[in-house]
Amino acid sequence: MSLSWRDVNAIYQIYPRSFMDANNDGVGDIRGVIDRLDYIKGQKDSLDIDAIWFSPIFPSPMADMGYDVSDYCDIDPLFGTLDDFKELIEKAHARNINVMIDFVPNHTSDQHEWFKESRKSRKGPYAEYYTWRDPAPGGGPPNNWLSIFGGSAWEYDDGRNQYYLHTFLAAQPDLNWDNPMVRDEMKRVVRFWLDLGIDGIRADAVRWLSKDPKFRNDPLTEIVRKAMDGTEGEYNHYIHKYSRFWKNLFPYLRELTDVVAEYDNRIMIFEDYPDANYSTKEQYLGFYGVNPKVAMPFNFEGVWTDFYADAFRTFITEFQGMLDPDEHTPVYCFGNHDQSRLVSRMGGDEQARLMALLLLSLPGLPTVYYGDELGMPNTPVKQEDIQDLRAFTSGDIDSTRDPERTPMQWQTGQYAGFSKAKPWLPLGESVRHHNVETQQHEADSFLSLYRRLLRMRSRYEILRTGTYEAIGELEADVFSYARWLGDQHIYVALNFGRLDNTVKLPHKGRILCCTHPVDYPEIAEDGTIMLRPFEGVIVECSEHPLKKDLDE
Ligand code: NOJ
Repeated sequence: MSLSWRDVNAIYQIYPRSFMDANNDGVGDIRGVIDRLDYIKGQKDSLDIDAIWFSPIFPSPMADMGYDVSDYCDIDPLFGTLDDFKELIEKAHARNINVMIDFVPNHTSDQHEWFKESRKSRKGPYAEYYTWRDPAPGGGPPNNWLSIFGGSAWEYDDGRNQYYLHTFLAAQPDLNWDNPMVRDEMKRVVRFWLDLGIDGIRADAVRWLSKDPKFRNDPLTEIVRKAMDGTEGEYNHYIHKYSRFWKNLFPYLRELTDVVAEYDNRIMIFEDYPDANYSTKEQYLGFYGVNPKVAMPFNFEGVWTDFYADAFRTFITEFQGMLDPDEHTPVYCFGNHDQSRLVSRMGGDEQARLMALLLLSLPGLPTVYYGDELGMPNTPVKQEDIQDLRAFTSGDIDSTRDPERTPMQWQTGQYAGFSKAKPWLPLGESVRHHNVETQQHEADSFLSLYRRLLRMRSRYEILRTGTYEAIGELEADVFSYARWLGDQHIYVALNFGRLDNTVKLPHKGRILCCTHPVDYPEIAEDGTIMLRPFEGVIVECSEHPLKKDLDE
């Protein structure tokens, strides 16, 4: 049975190539996930997380590790079969784990049958499935749109003597969503997976579903236009005014999510990084407005927010302030397969522990990236071992996303219990301590911290659905907030500073969780708590002071 999404404590992202390899070919698979369900939920020492989502598992040539789909309604043999996936859904549901898939609506692989047909001729049923344009009058690409993986977004094809559009790799042609047949195909795909029993969908790169039908050139940003330093061509030098986020985006997403709404207790989460050229409010509320209650965007701001109390406080408080708590579910995400690992990005273990406490005490549906619950740092990957093509097409070898995609670290020893064969990406030094077996038995490990936070989040509805309010000084090193629901009240204080900091509880209470689960700070008689560097606490207050304040 699936859990009501309101009761889900968090979503766990599994990068299927790297979670568990049951057939020992060096790449993770669905059978591996089935074998490790005990780790996820259902046993005394499980992580106890209520939902899992998989990065794409469809047949794919793997130019972009599955984000280049060649058939939307099957499973790549590398990962198993459709029957394996059905078994996974059944076994996950038996433990009350919700299952989500990753859906890639903006582009297919160039090996998809639709594209093979489309590139053959300017006529025929698939001719308009993709975005084809004639060369510019003087030759060359039709306009200046850029691929976010480097270079022009247009690739010349001599089958049709035309260019096709690709926002990502040339092997990932963009579908033409202005064609109603394409939209119908995509709705069929969504239905196929919902009928199979999945509980939710993460929809990839949705911002690009609608583009300017006049294909106007994107303008240079003001700074670059003024400087004109000859470095034009870089993606960030342009305002992507015409090449994405165009007027039909929300209506198209509405069509797609209306299919989701036909089913009970299913959701769609949009992958979307806000564009700095537009107001975040306009963007978030646009996505929430598509189909409230069924669909919601990720909030990725935690990924690039600097590790300062006021920076986190500002973005979270502003975001929460935009939302209608009865309609909108926040989906905070501090890490995923496209971002440097939390420990490496935030500056160290202690900072990452604080982030865990923050993430899992905020409202909504937080997401945890596999391995972050062990404090896995980025794993160095030698140049000759790099798998991520973006590192080459972008011209920036350091942009490889491989370091955050390395195999799950189950135990010490060869290949870390992930596989008996050499894994597709290397394992690093961190295996020695950052592995499940070691951390299972340590009361103060990352894993114990995550487990405790997740259990608490399941038990305390207030943490999932209660109201949020920032308290305290904006400038201070401590970010504090209150959560409340009815008469219950929880207080969270996070010390982002490198020095001790004292906070005063708004009311009497007891510590429910601390970044170091075996070593809680004391609450003094006068209600003060001295927080050590990077320490955070979640306190259950015995009364509801905020409510009292409101009543006065
Ligand atoms: C976002 C995905 O998370 C990323 O991994 C992928 O490369 C692009 N979209 C293209 O699908």
